[in-house]
Amino acid sequence: MSNSTIAQEIAKRRTFAIISHPDAGKTTITEKVLLHGQAIQSAGTVKGRGSGQHAKSDWMEMEKERGISVTTSVMQFPYNDRLVNLLDTPGHEDFSEDTYRTLTAVDSCLMVIDAAKGVEDRTRKLMEVTRLRDTPIVTFMNKLDRDIRDPMELLDEVETELNIMCAPVSWPIGSGKLFKGVYHLHRDETILYQSGKGHTIQEVRIIKGLDNPELDEAVGDGLAEQLREELELVMGASHEFDQELFLAGELTPVFFGTALGNFGVDHMLDGLTEWAPAPQPRQTQEREVTAADDKFSGFVFKIQANMDPRHRDRIAFMRIVSGQYTQGMKMKHVRIGKTVSISDAVTFMAGDRERAEEAFAGDIIGLHNHGTIQIGDTFTQGEELKFTGIPNFAPELFRRIRLRDPLKQKQLLKGLVQLSEEGAVQVFRPLDNNDLIVGAVGVLQFDVVVARLKAEYNVDALYESVNVSTARWVYGKDAKKLDEFQRKVSANLALDGGDNLTYIAPTMVNLNLTQERYPDIQFSKTREH
Ligand code: G4P
Repeated sequence: MSNSTIAQEIAKRRTFAIISHPDAGKTTITEKVLLHGQAIQSAGTVKGRGSGQHAKSDWMEMEKERGISVTTSVMQFPYNDRLVNLLDTPGHEDFSEDTYRTLTAVDSCLMVIDAAKGVEDRTRKLMEVTRLRDTPIVTFMNKLDRDIRDPMELLDEVETELNIMCAPVSWPIGSGKLFKGVYHLHRDETILYQSGKGHTIQEVRIIKGLDNPELDEAVGDGLAEQLREELELVMGASHEFDQELFLAGELTPVFFGTALGNFGVDHMLDGLTEWAPAPQPRQTQEREVTAADDKFSGFVFKIQANMDPRHRDRIAFMRIVSGQYTQGMKMKHVRIGKTVSISDAVTFMAGDRERAEEAFAGDIIGLHNHGTIQIGDTFTQGEELKFTGIPNFAPELFRRIRLRDPLKQKQLLKGLVQLSEEGAVQVFRPLDNNDLIVGAVGVLQFDVVVARLKAEYNVDALYESVNVSTARWVYGKDAKKLDEFQRKVSANLALDGGDNLTYIAPTMVNLNLTQERYPDIQFSKTREH
């Protein structure tokens, strides 16, 4: 393939993820996006939701759920003249570390907000993460078929709480039972909503122009007048869309609609595919790598087990940063210094796992992993590069893990270290005793670990409570001071799965005091892979 064809392929790519608070409608909008991308034939096939709540500790159930969400981990589909990669972020709050790392692999985000609720907790946290790289954000105000909050107030809340300017692209006409549709500010047209058509791509009625009397007739005089008045206010009080501010992550275009009713999702997709950036550069320890570099490079941001229950393999998800992947090509696995020939990477076209013959910067490919690949690993065509910015987060929950059968200590340790390399959990070995402490960001991780230890390592383990409330990775430039620190507080020191020194604190107060006492030691809440 010629260089200019490769460049064209790359320029077509748009790689994004959805950020939202649980229940805001991420799953529903994903489904509708796939419907528009013709990756599925009718809505209702992405995830069997059944009666809603599932037993959270039931691993089989979870596996089932994961099994389904796994095939939708990355979804590639064409839309307009772009090729879209939508990366799923785990829905459950508990897997937040994975979510954070997934956000390092995208170039833009769709923020979905429940318009009846406004900005919620988890959205706030995820926005903080996108801020680390100034990721451009497109906003969808969802659930307009319900009674929502005043739209002006919603924009105001986004601006003040998330510190990003809002540029409404569409504006709602009524909500709940009175939801009539939206006025598209850029197209100067009103698109009318019909309820009950959410599972299909609808034929919509469009009315050109704001002063068109057809509008009054279609939505009722009162609502048409209200719309005109609101728009005057909106134009005065909010921002106009600005591509540069959007790309800098300082301004977000805002769309209104209902994912359930499949209304407005296409407006959002039109905007996203037009404005969102093509594959962006990434930083390595050595230099910045741009998508246009002719040599292939990529980094692993996620490892997932049991994608296919018949093959007990693990898939390492790699974001291609530059160049092109072709089947059978040789790649250098930089951390272990080995060159490997990759002939069976998977791509995710149209929601199906398929063997990738080629893929380009911006795409995600899945590598079969038999334990050699770790999160954060870099692959190149020979160059010594190490991508940065793929963090581990200090866990917030801790338990001591113990064997039912004490003879299996070795397998337990091996299992835990491998699971920690995958990012499923973190493990700490205190310097002063033989305990094994498992640390997690979310409580569900504990259950997953015990179930996987049993299934994959044939180890029966159980948890006990442990007096640890927080952990920090510690570093010191001055070897002598670090040494002294290690001697004085050894009772609170441990090695993590990668043998990095960690301070495990029984209380926050203890951590604060220790930090004050040892000003030359750095205490870090994140660790780079
Ligand atoms: P999540 O992935 O962000 O957690 O949200 P999800 O899409 O699962 O949606 C959460 C709930 O909100 C679901 O209802 C879903 O049907 C509903 N929902 C999503 N979009 C809209 C919308 O535009 N309008 C309305 N009225 N509801 C919406 P549920 O009762 O939890 O699930 P289900 O049993 O109805 O499927």
